[in-house]
Amino acid sequence: MKRGSPPSPREEISRLPRYVPGTPAAQVDGRAGYKLSSNESPFALPDEMVAAMAAACAAANRYPPPGEELVLRLAERHSLRPEEVGVAGGSLELLRDLLLAYAGPGASVVYGWRSYEAYPILVGSSGARPVPVPLVDHRIDLAGLLRAVSDDTRGVLLADPNNPTGTSLDPAKVEAFARRLPPTCLLVLDQAYCDFGDPEAASLALQLRSELPNLVVLRTFSKAFALAGMRVGWCAAHPQVVATLQAVALPFTLTAPAQAGALAALGLEAELSRRAGLLVAERDRLATSLRELGFPLPTSRANFLWLPLGERSSEFASACSSAGVSVRCFAGEGVRVTVGLPEENQAVLEAAAAYLREGRPA
Ligand SMILES: Cc1ncc(COP(=O)(O)O)c(C=O)c1O
Repeated sequence: MKRGSPPSPREEISRLPRYVPGTPAAQVDGRAGYKLSSNESPFALPDEMVAAMAAACAAANRYPPPGEELVLRLAERHSLRPEEVGVAGGSLELLRDLLLAYAGPGASVVYGWRSYEAYPILVGSSGARPVPVPLVDHRIDLAGLLRAVSDDTRGVLLADPNNPTGTSLDPAKVEAFARRLPPTCLLVLDQAYCDFGDPEAASLALQLRSELPNLVVLRTFSKAFALAGMRVGWCAAHPQVVATLQAVALPFTLTAPAQAGALAALGLEAELSRRAGLLVAERDRLATSLRELGFPLPTSRANFLWLPLGERSSEFASACSSAGVSVRCFAGEGVRVTVGLPEENQAVLEAAAAYLREGRPA
């Protein structure tokens, strides 16, 4: 070993891909542009949420409570028993803890790919073997996932709607899939974007959860509930799974302001769903206009659109950036555009039209 170098991490850690956060708003002519690269809510937070969080900051000299009130409110809201609800500082934290507790060295974890880019990082860092299964038509291939499950599989991660493609699955097919998985394998159904899709599918997942002890439904306050910067996630799971999560959890990661913000958001659910509805309408308008321009794109049930531009992805992303719009580019595959306020979406359309005017293909 070279003198002066630090110890080497576990081998699988050095092979981990890096998480790439969405780039900040691009600037044009010194004006701040639009950040459509992280699937965040574009709306200013309701005053009640800001006030609740600010009040909680005044007690920041104390460690936060463990989140019982939020657990009770979520359980009541979704007709669950409190012992079936887990909360943490973001749904990713819950996923990390699930993988730590149920996967790890010697296990494999299956997921569709491309999907949420944190999956291979969290699976790999748990020590488990990642088993990515290619999408078919921008959709998660349930039959392919099932074929990839082997004796050592301890987890299947299913984002529905999927990030970055926005596609969602038929709930009856998800149910049939869930019932066919071995009971030794946890199925993590990641519904981060369910508030922009079919509400029935979202609640069916919770009903199915009560029948299947190996099913975990992951939800977040980061998207429709507009608290990405606060980090609040929750899950519905069998009480033994929730207890296991509590056993491995880092204490105090769900801060008091985050809990206060989430509780206030639950009190404003009607307004927050109205806003999600506005984004859904904008999403469909933007998708129709982009298709009219000639861009083929799959139907999205999330708060973003996927443009499968392949080799042209980087060019398109830089055309957007020159127009002041930052989008998320997956070089060689496609570009994910978060749906924003009408003027932001208009800027995307203008950038797309300008890109075509330069003679580039859609
Ligand atoms: C599919 C999916 N799951 C989970 C998350 C992260 O959620 P949280 O902010 O609760 O950690 C994201 C964020 O983009 C996501 O796209």
